[in-house]
This record gives sequence, C-alpha cells and structure tokens, in this order.
Amino acid sequence: MAILGALSGSGFALEPAEQRGKTFAKANCAQCHAVGRVGASPLKIAPPLRTLHERYPVETLAEAFAEGIQTGHPTMPQFQLDSDQIGDLIAYLKTLE
Ligand code: HEC
Repeated sequence: MAILGALSGSGFALEPAEQRGKTFAKANCAQCHAVGRVGASPLKIAPPLRTLHERYPVETLAEAFAEGIQTGHPTMPQFQLDSDQIGDLIAYLKTLE
C-alpha cells in the first residue's frame, strides 16, 4: 500500500481505464457538465456527471453513447464514441458513485 500511495502521489489512485475516462470527460464534457466529485456544471441545465447514476445505472449509457447520445436538447452535441472510449468513460462514471 505504501508503494502504491507513493506512486500515485495522492490519496486514491484510478485504474488506467478510469483515468482515461476521466481525461476524456475533461476534454469533451467538462465545458458543460461538472465531471468531478464536487462542483456545479458550467452549463446549469447539464447534470453533473456524478449524478447520472441516481437516474439510471450508468451501464445503460453504453448503448446511448454507442448510438450517439441524443437528449433532444439542442445545446448538447451529438456524440458517437467507440467501444474503448465508452468502456473508459463508464469505468470513470462508476468511480463517482
Ligand atoms: C455543449 C454542452 C454539452 C457537452 C459538451 C456535453 N453535454 Fe451532456 N448534456 C448537456 C445538456 C444541456 C444536457 C441536458 C439535456 C436535457 O436535460 O435536455 C446534457 C445531458 C446529458 C446526459 C443526460 C441525458 C439524460 O437524458 O439523462 C448525459 C448522460 C450526458 N449529457 C453525457 C455527456 C457526456 C458523456 C459528454 C461528453 C462526452 C457530454 N454530455 C457533453 C450539454 C452538454
């Protein structure tokens, strides 16, 4: 444990997939959604990603992401992610639960 802590340099370490998902979310979602454990979304009507699991199991988003997420809201761009990106993103979303 001491070695792990020293390597990560912080209190908790993310798995590689989770880390990739976090990076992806920061790059692609953070201009509208809060992507971290705290804080409000920059765009008020966009739900913080950490609250999604309160509405449905985050696994169910895999299909939506694969088909291109469509919320019927014009300010949300349509995304189409490949399966690796989806796996990473869901892994990260699960760390927020
Ligand atoms: C340009 C702003 C913007 C960006 C960028 C954005 N979103 Fe959104 N997103 C929104 C808005 C606004 C809503 C709320 C839509 C509504 O409730 O009608 C939303 C809603 C959602 C929802 C909820 C859908 C539902 O109906 O439950 C999910 C999931 C989501 N976004 C995921 C993402 C992910 C993942 C990314 C990054 C890949 C992302 N969004 C990037 C604006 C954005």
